[in-house]
Amino acid sequence: MRHPLVIGNWKLNGSTKMVKELIEKLHNELNNIINCNIAIAPPTLYLSQAKKALINSNITLAAQDVDINLFGAFTGDNSAEMLKDIGVKYVIIGHSERRIYHNETDELIAQKFSILKSQGLIPVLCIGESKEENNAGKTEQVCANQIDKILHYLSIDAFKNSVIAYEPIWAIGTYKSATPTQAQSVHKFIRNHIAKQDPIVAEKIIIQYGGSVNVNNASKLFVQPDIDGALVGGESLKAHSFISIVNTASIIKKVY
Ligand code: PGA
Repeated sequence: MRHPLVIGNWKLNGSTKMVKELIEKLHNELNNIINCNIAIAPPTLYLSQAKKALINSNITLAAQDVDINLFGAFTGDNSAEMLKDIGVKYVIIGHSERRIYHNETDELIAQKFSILKSQGLIPVLCIGESKEENNAGKTEQVCANQIDKILHYLSIDAFKNSVIAYEPIWAIGTYKSATPTQAQSVHKFIRNHIAKQDPIVAEKIIIQYGGSVNVNNASKLFVQPDIDGALVGGESLKAHSFISIVNTASIIKKVY
């Protein structure tokens, strides 16, 4: 029994006006959704504004990143304690854009995972292969390695009440999603890989798909048994698209 989760990853997009207008629309249209957990991840600067706008809403707040330290001389960083303090529930870590543009290593990502768990926040661990790795048939190996690196530092218990987002890098922002069959096969592999450590954790863990999710492909992805929702980038900036994707998840996954 898994409750689907759809998160809107706004990336480096937004303004006070946009946050106000977009959240107003989401708030109005998504308030009756009970079969799908919903979160939005605006840029850190707008989290407090978003939190206020989300009062009395079933939409929760996610952050796009976190530092490995809780406080101190770390100019420009934001701590897990601060994110928790302002009302964040989920934190995306290991997104390929951070792995690539900020040289984030699996070890650093494991540290972020650990600090989030220590603060009672829910990590959304992004994993996924590049186009070259995909072409070379290394998708499963890459995903397994990225999970094993976390397990090298933390026990399988850390994955209880955590989220994994499978995001093939070649599908992000390209309008070329993985096919539902491709995605389902990787999701199943990921769940089986975790089941080798703990079948109960594997059964319960939410595995989102991310990479060019839109109103047209959402239903075909969500009918797949191991796809428990989506991490939505570009389409989460358009109210009507995000609302439709959440509604689709809520309807399709109702049977669970
Ligand atoms: P996209 O991004 O939906 O724009 O492909 C997804 C993500 O990077 O989380």
